[in-house]
Amino acid sequence: MHNNPVTYAIYITVIAPNGIRELLNITALIGMTLMDVLIKRGYRAPGICGGTGLCKACQVTVIAGVEKLNEPSEKELIMLKVLGEVQENSRMACQMRVRPGMNGLIIKLESKKIYKL
Ligand code: FES
Repeated sequence: MHNNPVTYAIYITVIAPNGIRELLNITALIGMTLMDVLIKRGYRAPGICGGTGLCKACQVTVIAGVEKLNEPSEKELIMLKVLGEVQENSRMACQMRVRPGMNGLIIKLESKKIYKL
């Protein structure tokens, strides 16, 4: 019997609003969101929605690797539009599922609400 791995290693580049890049090498659990990964690496996004995709505090732009992501849900697309200022490839980090094969993803933090401790 073959079981799927529970964890896997990935690397993601994060570009802060001030242009500083950070390469994150992480061990991710199946089902984690990108926001979970950022929190694990010391970032905080004190949104009011608790990661339910309703406040846009965690907005990011995918610079490279959009094809490696889960498709945005209808709710995520609607909320991005409702909340305004969307770029092409805008996503909400709390709605993006991290998964194997995501290596090389580059994201830019669009919200100044996301900061690193
Ligand atoms: S934390 Fe509110 S939309 Fe992601």
